[in-house]
Amino acid sequence: MGEKRPKGSPGKASVNNESLTPLLPFAAEKVAQLLLDWYGQAGRDLPWRQTRDPYRIWLAEIMLQQTTVTTAIGYYQRFLESFPTLEQLAAAPQEQVIDLWAGLGYYVRARNLHAAAQVVVHQLGGLFPADVAGLMQLPGIGRSTAGAVAALAFEQAAPILDGNVRRILCRLFALQEAPHSRAAEKKLWLWAEALTPEQRVHDYTQAIMDLGALVCLPRHPLCPECPLKDLCQARSSGLEQQLPLKQPQKQVPQRHALALLIQWQGRYLVQRRPARGFLGGLWEFPTLSLDGQSSVADSLARLMADYAVQGKAQALGRIKHVYSHFRLELQLFRVPVAGLAAMAETDGRSNWYTSVQLETLALHGAHKKALEYLGE
Ligand code: ADE
Repeated sequence: MGEKRPKGSPGKASVNNESLTPLLPFAAEKVAQLLLDWYGQAGRDLPWRQTRDPYRIWLAEIMLQQTTVTTAIGYYQRFLESFPTLEQLAAAPQEQVIDLWAGLGYYVRARNLHAAAQVVVHQLGGLFPADVAGLMQLPGIGRSTAGAVAALAFEQAAPILDGNVRRILCRLFALQEAPHSRAAEKKLWLWAEALTPEQRVHDYTQAIMDLGALVCLPRHPLCPECPLKDLCQARSSGLEQQLPLKQPQKQVPQRHALALLIQWQGRYLVQRRPARGFLGGLWEFPTLSLDGQSSVADSLARLMADYAVQGKAQALGRIKHVYSHFRLELQLFRVPVAGLAAMAETDGRSNWYTSVQLETLALHGAHKKALEYLGE
């Protein structure tokens, strides 16, 4: 990064280090200028744009990875009220960070955020790395997020390739390949790099993000409003609605489990998963994986025995949820309990909550969906 590289001009390759080098059919400077002019009048005024503090910019980028700007703003402000500095975030217990993230989903982001804060504070003397390679050493920071932080906080000429930019480039260059294939990925990064200017990198980066969010929309792009409309190859070929091509779904294994909604005096028992490991620190209802050997009835009896619950379990329904590397079908059962059983004791990792309280708890995917079955 940072080193000088030739810029594209019509008909010339802008990056020469690959046999796959994509040609730029227009001058890269022209794209940057059109975007910057457009951003001057149409760009959004968002809270993380008033700062060059890498902590605040990094936090915004992590939140915005899988969350819309509208949802992220409130979380961003509350998070910074709780942890105004990187040092305060690093010193907090993981549970507090996860609980502040409740509702945003993709909790691995919160765990990585916390872990990365600890690395920066304890191993890097509290100083954020200022370049892409250094940023990518931190947990949860991939190339695009590293590029965004380097560009936004440190004015480094670092490209980004988030979902918005990917879509814009697929259309601008009429890329007719699945956009996450290896070959496409390589071309997209080369284009992103060739287009990123050396000057006003912060504004350029925000501009291209805003173009994706406001104009180059996934379903119905607002082409007449687009500053790049005269350069866009998808538009000139009438392909703007078809591109980017759909990514083929990846196949993941199917798993099955039971969850028990133990109801006592209008509350339900939930417990926190161990801090380390898959879905670490998140909350869930008592659950048991179905191993394919035991029947559902036997497994249910075992789960109820584990929690010293007696009574008649009522089947509520089945929930489907896709996690990163498997699909889960979760069968839900409710058991009302009358008296206080041994499991009513809470130990900090388990607790009884009303359905209203559960709405704001950091439950993971399928268990969050289970709330629809609680009623009252
Ligand atoms: N999406 C990802 N990063 C963003 C940013 N800084 N501003 C707006 N949307 C974004």
